Amino acid sequence: MAGQVQGKVALVTGGASGIGEAVCELLAREGASVAVTDIDELRGPELVAKIKKAGGEATFLQQDVTSEERWIEVVEEVVRRYGRLDILVSNAGIGIGVPSITQMTLEDWRRQTAINLDGVFLSVKHCLPVMRKGRGGSIVLMSSLAGLRGAQSLAGYCATKGGVRLFAKAIAMECASFGDGVRVNSVHPGIIDTPIWGKIPTGGMGGGQNAPIDPEERAKLATPFGRAGHAMEIAQGVLYLASDASSYVTGMELVIDGGMNAGGALRMPGAPAFPMPAFGG
Ligand SMILES: NC(=O)c1ccc[n+]([C@@H]2O[C@H](COP(=O)([O-])OP(=O)(O)OC[C@H]3O[C@@H](n4cnc5c(N)ncnc54)[C@H](O)[C@@H]3O)[C@@H](O)[C@H]2O)c1
Repeated sequence: MAGQVQGKVALVTGGASGIGEAVCELLAREGASVAVTDIDELRGPELVAKIKKAGGEATFLQQDVTSEERWIEVVEEVVRRYGRLDILVSNAGIGIGVPSITQMTLEDWRRQTAINLDGVFLSVKHCLPVMRKGRGGSIVLMSSLAGLRGAQSLAGYCATKGGVRLFAKAIAMECASFGDGVRVNSVHPGIIDTPIWGKIPTGGMGGGQNAPIDPEERAKLATPFGRAGHAMEIAQGVLYLASDASSYVTGMELVIDGGMNAGGALRMPGAPAFPMPAFGG
C-alpha cells in the first residue's frame, strides 16, 4: 500500500530531536524523502541512518535556521538532491522561561525570537518559491498551545508562538490568492515529553529553583488527559496536514494537547490517564 506522502519531498527543521525527529521518522515511513535539518550535527546523522535502515530515504543538512545564507544553500541542496520540495515543516524552536518579564534580558528575547519567529519567516521565504514551481505543497508551522493562550513565565515564548500562528494564516491567504496550490497551517502542541523541557532556562521560574521541568509531572496536573503527549502524537497531526488527506484545509490551527485548550477538567480520584496507542515503527 502506498504511504500517505509517497513520493513527496519534505524538509523538517529541528529534525534531530523530539517532535521534529518523530515527524521525520513518520514522513519517511509514509513514503517521503526527508531532508532533516538541525544545528545538532550528532543526532541528525544518527536519525538519518535509522530512517535508512528502516528502508526510508533521508538526508541530513546542518542548519541554523536564523541564517539566511544557509537557508539559500539548504533549499538549493534539497532541490539538487530530490528535484523539488512538497512539504515544509518549520519546527525548530527553543523556550526561555523567566519568573517575571522584568527579568528577561533583551539578548534572550532576541535569541528566542530569532529562532522561533525569524527562522520560520526565513523558512517560508526560501521554500515557498520552490514549492510554487512544483505542484504546490503543504507548509506546517510549529506553534504551541502557548501561541493560543498566555503561559506564566513564558511571555517571550508566547509572543513568538502567537506570531507563528497569525503568520501561518496570512501566508495561507497569500497562497490562496496566488492559487499556487500551497496550503499553510499551524500545529499547537500542549505538554509533550521531549528534551526541550530539560533545556528551558528558567531563571528560577515557578518554585524559586532552576531545576529542569518534568513534563510528566506538569501534565498530570494541567491536562484533562492526565499525562504528557508523545512526540509521535504530534507527528500524526503533522502527517495529516502534510498529506493530501487535508487537501481542503488551510489557515487552520491543529491543537494537539490532551484537552487543555478546551477547558479544565477536575480528574476523579484514581482516574487513569488516557491511553496512548502503540504507533509502531
Ligand atoms: N515539547 C513541548 O511540550 C512543545 C509544546 C509546544 C510546542 N513545542 C514546539 O515544538 C518544536 C519542537 O520542540 P521539541 O519539544 O521537539 O524540542 P527539542 O528541543 O527536542 O527539539 C528542538 C530541535 O530544534 C533544534 N534547534 C534549536 N535551535 C535551532 C536553530 N537555531 N536552528 C536549527 N535547529 C535548532 C534543536 O537542536 C533540537 O533538535 C519547537 O518549536 C517547540 O517550541 C514543543
